[in-house]
Amino acid sequence: MSTVATQRNVEVEVPVNIALIKYWGKKDEDHIIPVNNSVSLNIDELFARTYVQCSYYDSMDSVSINNVTVDLTRNPRFLRCFDDYKASDMFAELCTFVQYARQLIQGHAMLYDSAGIVSKPQLSFQVSSTTNFPVGAGLASSAAGFAAIAFGIGKMFDLTMNEVSSLARIGSGSACRSVFGGLVEWEAGSEPSGADSFAKQLTSDKSWPELRAVVIVLDESEKKVSSSEGMRRSMDTSELLPYRAKEIVPNRIERLCEAFKAHDFEEFARITMADSNQFHAICLDTSPPLKYMSEASWQVVHAVEEFNSRGQIRAGYTFDAGPNACVFLQNEDVVPFLLQLSNYLTLPPTTMEDIENIAHVDIKEKANL
Ligand code: DP6
Repeated sequence: MSTVATQRNVEVEVPVNIALIKYWGKKDEDHIIPVNNSVSLNIDELFARTYVQCSYYDSMDSVSINNVTVDLTRNPRFLRCFDDYKASDMFAELCTFVQYARQLIQGHAMLYDSAGIVSKPQLSFQVSSTTNFPVGAGLASSAAGFAAIAFGIGKMFDLTMNEVSSLARIGSGSACRSVFGGLVEWEAGSEPSGADSFAKQLTSDKSWPELRAVVIVLDESEKKVSSSEGMRRSMDTSELLPYRAKEIVPNRIERLCEAFKAHDFEEFARITMADSNQFHAICLDTSPPLKYMSEASWQVVHAVEEFNSRGQIRAGYTFDAGPNACVFLQNEDVVPFLLQLSNYLTLPPTTMEDIENIAHVDIKEKANL
């Protein structure tokens, strides 16, 4: 791999991915190697736009997220990755950088602890990322951020997509899936170094045009227990987790992929909901228990259940490590479902206007669903 002597820059836009079969638990925390394969679908409209500039020797690293500059001098989490830093080749250096960015983003709540930077990588990066969705609220925001950084770096240094995906993984596990569109599987791999732990695209994002994802943002605040901390706790204490990883997930992934390829919405939704529920069951099976879904999340579950109660599954929910919901539907069911949802949640007036416009219905005299 060649080295760079000059400054380079690139801007990329990377979508968030919504996990259908969840990643929860690492067999190796340092290399971010998961206990099970996982599958996600990208949501193009929710993205992180990231500008990455790379310089050699002469400038300082900097990171800003949604226009907030991250203070690099006051985060003790840098120390570990700087201490580990050994620039043997370019890829190792890039991995170090992504690890470093991971410390930044994950540690931003601790920015004001006292600690200084002891050394600095040879490569310096200036990263500025903006997201058009709330950061840290269970919408895989760090995934989009790290995927964007890895993608940008990959473009600069002509990395292969496997390398780009691995690089994103080192930042945040689920990020390795965000470097592709459509339906994507992250293969856990078997190499202790994580060399074969990266994502691959299963089908393109254009392959099921009628499929829609409605993202319902119920709470924009950051979650109290991060995914990393939550899965660490689950690994230590949940008896359900190893059973799911070994006995349930492989078959579930196979069935989900078949359903997706066949556009079998009922099966797709059934499996997606089952996996979301099982993930949250593992959270409750963790000690101390993890509660990511809120009362409002449960209202969405009830709305979906009622919508599906007429004999056919037409909506499927999934919740990541946060209260916000993603509901999958086919195009024709979006408006009827939102009307149904408005019986359970007070939707903002703008959303109701949108529904009214699309559906040509008088919201005040809602159609009898
Ligand atoms: C519930 O990828 O955020 O969204 O690897 O520790 O950074 P780290 O965790 P992260 O975990 C995401 C967990 C999840 C499920 C998923 O995306 O598969």
